[in-house]
Amino acid sequence: MPRKILVAVAWPYVNGEPHLGHIAGMNVPADIFARFHRIIGNEVVMVSGSDMHGTPTTLKAADEGVSPEVIATRYHEIWSKALEDMSFSYDLYTHTHTDRHREVTQELFTKLKKNGHLVEATQSMPFSETEQRFLSDRFVVGTCPHCASDSARGDQCDNCGRTLDPIDLINIRSSRDGSTPIFKDTTHQMLRLGDFQGALEEWVEDKNDWRQNVRNQTLGILREGLHDRAITRDIDWGVPVPLEGYESKRIYVWFEAVIGYLSATRSWAEQQGTPDAWKKWWVEPDGESYYFQGKDNVSFHTIMLPSILLGSGKLNMPTDVVANEYLNLGGIDFSKSRGHAVWLPDFLTRYEPDPLRYYLASIMPETSDSEFTWQGFHAANNNELVATFGNFVHRVLTITTRNFDNTVPTPAELSEDDEVALTACDTALREVSNAIEARKFRDGLRSAMRLAQVGNRYIDAKEPWKTVKIDKESAGTALWVGLNIISTLRTVFYPYLPTSADKIHDMLFKDSDTLSDGWSKRDIIPNAPIGKPTPLFRKLDNAIIEEENARLTGN
Ligand code: MF3
Ligand code: ZN
Repeated sequence: MPRKILVAVAWPYVNGEPHLGHIAGMNVPADIFARFHRIIGNEVVMVSGSDMHGTPTTLKAADEGVSPEVIATRYHEIWSKALEDMSFSYDLYTHTHTDRHREVTQELFTKLKKNGHLVEATQSMPFSETEQRFLSDRFVVGTCPHCASDSARGDQCDNCGRTLDPIDLINIRSSRDGSTPIFKDTTHQMLRLGDFQGALEEWVEDKNDWRQNVRNQTLGILREGLHDRAITRDIDWGVPVPLEGYESKRIYVWFEAVIGYLSATRSWAEQQGTPDAWKKWWVEPDGESYYFQGKDNVSFHTIMLPSILLGSGKLNMPTDVVANEYLNLGGIDFSKSRGHAVWLPDFLTRYEPDPLRYYLASIMPETSDSEFTWQGFHAANNNELVATFGNFVHRVLTITTRNFDNTVPTPAELSEDDEVALTACDTALREVSNAIEARKFRDGLRSAMRLAQVGNRYIDAKEPWKTVKIDKESAGTALWVGLNIISTLRTVFYPYLPTSADKIHDMLFKDSDTLSDGWSKRDIIPNAPIGKPTPLFRKLDNAIIEEENARLTGN
């Protein structure tokens, strides 16, 4: 029976372009995971979209003097295109300003209300006298009461990861004009997170396969105890609150954004013409769900979303919340707010997506922060992709096509080294599969690359370019073994480098594609035709390192 795997990727705020920090943290691992589960035969649905109602979008709109929708739509288009250009295989990439999303959000809100998990409370909120409006979340900044960072915002502190309320901030200021707000009473709906304390503790307890950081953050929050949290705001951009007297308020963006996973799965199912299909992942008890994101999103996915799921009915809890640490740039935080980043759309005007996917997977910040450097990208491309992987594939294919009339040679009896090389194929298939299944994407990539190294060493030792002139049969055997390794490389690299995998496929086989061949070493059949070899990767000039670094500091 195929497993049902929901791949839920965090919804980016659309107040700017995607940068490499974003995609290293969420899209690359999510896509590797989704492609892997598809190729092993599971039923995958991968969804996400743009988080349109976030305060970062509203702030940017205020800066430019346009409506939030203008900004959100502009960057949603940019994000959609960049994600597609990277070959991220979303089944649906939508956004939160749709009718479906509003309906599903309001439906869950109403269920929570009916089930007694929402209460009204009067809260003291910062109010700007200069602007005559309430300021919440990112509209206010100040000093974090937990870690003393002076760039904490009203919703959370990026330095220590704590969730905050504006009233917690020391030395609170408006992030719009720097003025000091007064505090004024306002009425909101509070989600009684405490109702779920016990259920959440029980749920997290046996999650031993979660990453340390995710488990520890979650246990830490639970240990401090869950309190009521306001899920409405005094703003006019967002999902309307389905309650009388709340006409001038909107639903808190984090409450509705995490519901996006569900509303997007439902939209996808409708678009497929199978409107009930979403239940396979969300209601059927064996549906699995994996949430990919940066570490600053964890509490929303291990506390807020699960509380909504528990409180609104029988919806499946996350199987795992796969959060990454940060990808830094030369020791500087990659955050777009600091204006120091490698922007994805710009990157893609000069480089191919697969080498980027490779490099980002190889330095993925799985257990600690990691660093993107242009030197590292250049080295990964030239020394690993070009010199090892690409070189091996190209050598075997060109010697074969030149000397065996564009067909697969017939192997003679296999020697021990031939058998060893073939065994390495099975090892790679097993290791890559175990690693990706365990969400250890760097390990999986290393195992895949090890097979390319085995192939290179094998072909160096066999020297078929020499033996073909004196012992064509032994050259043919070595090349046949080499072709088997290439066939396996195609499979194990498919989740990481889909475009390159398909290029290999098209050179080796005349039918189907990598995905439909499944997770296997497809057999190499003697006398089958082989396509014209074209290089998989392009060598990068040394000069790009300096050029790109100059571009960065010129920013
Ligand atoms: N927009 C948030 C961010 O960029 C992430 C939202 S993830 C969701 O940090 F689950 F809430 F959608
Ligand atoms: Zn802090």
